Amino acid sequence: MKPAKIISASLTVLTLAMVSSCTGSEQAKDPAEAKVEKLLSLMTIDEKIGQMSQLDPGTLGSDENLKKAVRDGRLGSLLNYFGTKEVNEIQRIAVEESRLGIPLLIGRDVIHGYKTIFPIPLGMAASWNPGLVKGAFRIAAEEASSQGIKWTFAPMIDITWDPRWGRIAEGCGEDPFLASAMAAAMVHGIQGDSLSDPASMAACAKHYAGYGFSEGGRDYNTTYITEPVLRNVVLKPFKAARDAGALTFMSAFNDLNGIPASGNEFTLRQILRDEWHFDGFVVSDWASVTEMVSHGYAVDEKDAAAKAINAGVDMEMATTSYFDNIKILLAEKKITQKQIDNAVRSILKVKFRLGLFENPYTDPDAARKILDPSFLEHARTMARQSAVLLKNDKNILPLNRSIGSVAVSGPLADAPRDQLGTWCFDGNAANSVTPLKAISDFLGKEKVNFAPGLGYSRDRSEKGFDQALKTAERSDAVIFFAGEEWILSGEGQSRGEINLPGAQDELISLLDKTRIPLIVVIMAGRPLAIGRLLEEADAVIYAWHGGTMAGPAIADLIFGIESPSGKLPVTFIKGSGQIPFYYYRNNTGRPATPGSWTPIDSIPVENPQSSLGYKSFWLDYGYTPLLPFGFGLSYTTFEYSDLSLSDLSMPMNGKLIIKASVQNTGKMDGDEIAQLYLRDRVGSITRPVRELKGFKRIHLEKGEKTEVVFELTSEDLAFFNGKITAAEPGEFDVWIGPDSSNGLHGEFILEK
Ligand code: GLC
Repeated sequence: MKPAKIISASLTVLTLAMVSSCTGSEQAKDPAEAKVEKLLSLMTIDEKIGQMSQLDPGTLGSDENLKKAVRDGRLGSLLNYFGTKEVNEIQRIAVEESRLGIPLLIGRDVIHGYKTIFPIPLGMAASWNPGLVKGAFRIAAEEASSQGIKWTFAPMIDITWDPRWGRIAEGCGEDPFLASAMAAAMVHGIQGDSLSDPASMAACAKHYAGYGFSEGGRDYNTTYITEPVLRNVVLKPFKAARDAGALTFMSAFNDLNGIPASGNEFTLRQILRDEWHFDGFVVSDWASVTEMVSHGYAVDEKDAAAKAINAGVDMEMATTSYFDNIKILLAEKKITQKQIDNAVRSILKVKFRLGLFENPYTDPDAARKILDPSFLEHARTMARQSAVLLKNDKNILPLNRSIGSVAVSGPLADAPRDQLGTWCFDGNAANSVTPLKAISDFLGKEKVNFAPGLGYSRDRSEKGFDQALKTAERSDAVIFFAGEEWILSGEGQSRGEINLPGAQDELISLLDKTRIPLIVVIMAGRPLAIGRLLEEADAVIYAWHGGTMAGPAIADLIFGIESPSGKLPVTFIKGSGQIPFYYYRNNTGRPATPGSWTPIDSIPVENPQSSLGYKSFWLDYGYTPLLPFGFGLSYTTFEYSDLSLSDLSMPMNGKLIIKASVQNTGKMDGDEIAQLYLRDRVGSITRPVRELKGFKRIHLEKGEKTEVVFELTSEDLAFFNGKITAAEPGEFDVWIGPDSSNGLHGEFILEK
């Protein structure tokens, strides 16, 4: 059996491969230490406070005021200030005109690309390809750093169970293991193999911590998270980012169990500093320090500053409570000089490690690479591998190039800005290649009949329906691009309902009635409740907001240049009423099982008082999601066989090798993402019915068979039970399969 080309491996293997090449050695012998101490000893309190302050250029009212503040050493960092010429000039003032010449650290949100825009991070997570994602973030770093940006507020690695939350678009989904692999890949892409590489930037693991658990999916809302969920789920990707060498963390907006994350000593000091030995610095989120007044956790901004500093927020973003109050707080002994020095020390170390003291200026020539064809090709590959095939009845896809004509319809077919998605500060819609353009280029304009039917995703007007239907009827297939405008997800953009906006469902139903083969491609910033169209369409591809090259990527898939290979990084639910729904749920005392659910429409009228099952289900939704985490189809088929375990019992400090064969039993080459899940049957606290513990993206030619091999140690089985983190002896289930609800089953015992 030929070993398949393994494209991406699970976290353990991958991180070990990457960490050694990056920051481990740099942390061990940090030459900056002595320089930092020397500089610190020369700094005045005003200069120290300056380093702890980051402002948006607009805050000071004019460029002159900004330059004066920099010259006076009042500012250590700027955000949203970019452009080679502009940054070099403000940096020259900092380096050559301020008393100590400490360079500025320029930050910007480069969340999924700078000018070459990749799929939204939720889409990139659907590729289950950390290596490809690392490459995307490297390209983002190359482009952004060419504009003087040396710090990006990414990766955003908030786990969430709520698709109403607009910022689900920015994260890596619901699973801590997949999100951890993505976090490590993104940090390595941003920070590169050497921090002093001019193309490298400082990463920023955000939003620390728990922001994705905002109640009701309403942004900035309260979060209540038990410590086991915090440690076993929420913090996992942040620990992976820290282990990957992330230089900075960002404290979040939300109050976490009553203590705002930006004033939370438990997460910021006990966990991040004392347990994880994080040695970078923490920046607040935009105004999250002073917002502790609104939270009702601080009396005023001075009190907020004291709480943030005491908790461990080293730099204040966008507001000036540090600048306005630190000297008073020192005099009142509400904070200590040691805390100030530690914060400044952390900030200076990052600047030294980024090489800013040796090389503060940006090479104007670096901008040549922006939108380089190789970058666009990477974006196309990323978008292709991020797309998930959800349905393909009668193998209607891929379409044949010799098809007579296709109708291209829907509000996202030619929406160059919407396909870029949220958090796209610097992307330019003019660079987008839309699906309409790509399909016309591929097939020839004469074969493409364009009739959007709706002007934009929220459009409820049916005036375009007639033309869309007539166009479909004179075509051999309809490709309908459904979804959301970009503004319907992202920060401050949560939705109570997660259906297709506008009259899209209505138009899709009418198109279905024409009986013309109907392919629906969805471009959205969240998992939508698409049950109706999933029934009606013949084929469905979920392409997320796929970025600059979304169009060519989708055309490649529709016409079979490549088979779709993505897998869902988040559970798809039937409607908002099922929230929160995540696959690693606990079993409960009354788990529903097939046959135990009484569907609401089958309840007899005037039903006597009796049991409808007394199990854990909804009368209308049942107890299963629409589509499970990890789900994704292919144009070919893969068969799993021969699950084997190296032993039926595993010593506590031993390891277990789990293998299975995977064969491409279809007619087309393709990638499969084999997934390893575990269940700890009994624990000192209730344990999830399944947990992802490994994955491998493998490429198999048609007919080819290979073996996937996973290695488990007791560390992979460890969990926090409210008191300690440890693996507990007992019986375990194990699966290797295509998603979180299928797979070959085995079992083993973990010995004492
Ligand atoms: C925003 C976001 C954060 C971002 C920061 C700077 O409010 O919460 O993710 O990095 O402000 O733009």
